[in-house]
Amino acid sequence: MTSKDNILKCEAVALDEERNALVILDQTQLPNKIAMLSLKDIESVYQAIYSLQVRGAPAIGIAAAFGLYVASLALDDEEFFARFHEYKEYLNSARPTAVNLSWALERMEKVVTGNKGKSISEIKELLRREAIAIKNEDADMCRRIGEYGLTLIKDGDGILTHCNAGQLATAKYGTALAPLHLGRERGMNFKVFCDETRPLLQGARLSTFELLADGIDTTLICDNMASQVMKNGWINAVFVGCDRVAANGDACNKIGTSGLAILAKHYGIPFYVLGPTSTIDMSINSGEQIVIEQRPIEEVTEMWYSKRMAPEGVKVYNPAFDVTEHELITGIVTERGILRPPYVDSLRLIMK
Ligand code: MRU
Repeated sequence: MTSKDNILKCEAVALDEERNALVILDQTQLPNKIAMLSLKDIESVYQAIYSLQVRGAPAIGIAAAFGLYVASLALDDEEFFARFHEYKEYLNSARPTAVNLSWALERMEKVVTGNKGKSISEIKELLRREAIAIKNEDADMCRRIGEYGLTLIKDGDGILTHCNAGQLATAKYGTALAPLHLGRERGMNFKVFCDETRPLLQGARLSTFELLADGIDTTLICDNMASQVMKNGWINAVFVGCDRVAANGDACNKIGTSGLAILAKHYGIPFYVLGPTSTIDMSINSGEQIVIEQRPIEEVTEMWYSKRMAPEGVKVYNPAFDVTEHELITGIVTERGILRPPYVDSLRLIMK
């Protein structure tokens, strides 16, 4: 069943406290089917993150926190500490680029290491609370990002976005799409252009779906059409999300983002990166230190096609992310405010 009416009411990631399960909206099936998956063991949580059933930097952090908590419930007292650490490391290896994954898992592990004197059942209860806090804080951060982002645009503006940095990628509202959802709540209208975002089509399948569900004027374009829509004068700002931002403001996001930034500069269009502070990694000086995930070649050669569309044996390069150099970014919108260059200074100030 396809329902444009209820997708925004579905949570991308949730904790089912009655069944002690991580519940995710299976994003690989959207927009054709709304299917919820209930996961309890560590392998299925890993697979869900790796296969992008749950995806988007904040959402994978939240899913990992809930997943680690529910999986830890099955551990007995003797094995708890060693196995908990193994589980944490295992989930952390599911995807390398978005820092939210390790950020959330570190928070969960700190609960364990900081409470070693307590009973295992008390520690499990503290883990439950921490995972819920991670999710609630994300919803709050996204709302604030939306408020700040909304000050950058006006009613009727054309916005270009890439991938899905919307509600489906977070606890609520999204990051890049948060200003659009919030503006909609206030009766504003924007004209949003979504890059389809090859090869996994997060723009075509997910962003258009959630924007239409919110009654937002949405146009889908192929990735290679961005220059043309900018040239047409239809874009007032580019809003994108991020997976890891380095201390100098270099921002890693879905492959294709850096090309948009270069185009935006050419056409004199402001280019904004929107993300919570949980996506900022002050431990790295520049984007060069970010590990870029490489994905299976079948995502390019045959996925989504009714038959393979590339000759057997062709070499395929399939990086999932790229880094936009800080010089190309007009502003970084966080829940703590809108940062402007030089980002080494503005980031250091808010991350103190
Ligand atoms: O591979 P994905 O779909 O997880 O990539 C997601 C993105 O690149 C998003 O733009 C980013 O995680 C921000 S989500 C608020």
